[in-house]
Amino acid sequence: MDPRNIGEWNLTEEDAYLERALGFIIRYKWLHDFKITRFYVDNIHENLPQEWVQASSGLSTEELQTQLDVLRNSSSTEVRAGFPESLRMFLREAKDLCLKRAMLGEGKGGGALELESEHEVDIPRRLMYGMRPKKLHEVSRMAVLIHQICQKYGLRTVLDLGAGMGYLDCVLAEVYAYQVIAVESDGCRTVNAQRRLSRHSQKDRPISNLLKYEALTIDHSPGSLRDLREVLNKYGASLICIIGLHCCGSFTPIILDLFARLDEGKALVCVGCCYHLMRYSKNQSGVEHCPLSKMAKQKLEGLWTKPGPLLTTASLRLATQETKVRWLKELDVHVSCHHFRAVLELAACSRNYEIKKRRRHTSPEQYGSDADKFLATVFTDYQLIGYGHAANRTNDQSVVSLQ
Ligand SMILES: C[S@@+](CC[C@H](N)C(=O)[O-])C[C@H]1O[C@@H](n2cnc3c(N)ncnc32)[C@H](O)[C@@H]1O
Repeated sequence: MDPRNIGEWNLTEEDAYLERALGFIIRYKWLHDFKITRFYVDNIHENLPQEWVQASSGLSTEELQTQLDVLRNSSSTEVRAGFPESLRMFLREAKDLCLKRAMLGEGKGGGALELESEHEVDIPRRLMYGMRPKKLHEVSRMAVLIHQICQKYGLRTVLDLGAGMGYLDCVLAEVYAYQVIAVESDGCRTVNAQRRLSRHSQKDRPISNLLKYEALTIDHSPGSLRDLREVLNKYGASLICIIGLHCCGSFTPIILDLFARLDEGKALVCVGCCYHLMRYSKNQSGVEHCPLSKMAKQKLEGLWTKPGPLLTTASLRLATQETKVRWLKELDVHVSCHHFRAVLELAACSRNYEIKKRRRHTSPEQYGSDADKFLATVFTDYQLIGYGHAANRTNDQSVVSLQ
């Protein structure tokens, strides 16, 4: 039995795994608990052991990729020679603690569910409107997963919490003919989602009778449970599959809690994200409603005895990073964009400027590892706010100053 295969775990193995994983996170806190944009401002590079720096400096990207191949290659367990033992040990342990991305699920009544992980649904072109490639990738796979789970448990109604623009919902309603109730706290999104549906669904076979939108904010309160029951009654839904795609921060624990309390919910498919947006408890000792098992919480209390949380906002950001395979593949671009941004922070700080993002998603793919291109796009992505002696400078003057 492989302790990393979550489908086969028993409690003794989980206990041992948690002890090792938490020990690892604690030992390497210096490596994950910092703001990447302040890498140079806060001299984070000085925390790196000298022997790690010596071993990796001067290596080309290809050489570094080869050295780190142990992380990518699932059958390889040995780190290549050339790295000091402390770094080899870190890589070995990191790899060993990785959880397998097994497509396994557990029904409320028990019993593992094996899913056909490779499949994705063909989405009609009309319904792709507004979806970026990443969203299309997620929706086409998640729709299949939900369909398989609904088939297994005999469910015909899906309750989507945090539905956003309802991309996934349209596919579930049109391609698989599910009754879908799309709940969303942002009323504007609900209106836009309805508009999108009326413009892009099939004209001769509209799905508006299957897909219903409800503007509602869900939280941990009994009132939320009542509101959801009312919505389910309104549409005559008794057995449902609850879904949530990209449930940011504390929204994921809210959904897990609801699933446990809502008897109508027979299956749950929830993809969390933006863990760094989870709320901290008032005394700042940790994340409120942190989605950890009781055993993990007890272990954490026993092992982490210092003041403040073990997992800070900076550390939790790691949980939303790309996979290690993708990181290695695009090492050049990732390293460059973080390096450029950290240099910009250093330049701005030294001239008393504060940096603010102009838009939520910046565009590293536009500049890749080209510093000039970065400088050309950076001022459309960021705004420099002057303060102190530079208080009245405009953004254009700041650009010149930083260049
Ligand atoms: C990142 S978006 C994901 C939207 C959609 N599921 C998708 O993947 O395209 C998260 C959505 O959840 C909604 N949301 C967040 N907290 C919520 C809450 N407590 N109750 C209902 N909706 C919420 C947000 O307004 C937002 O539209």
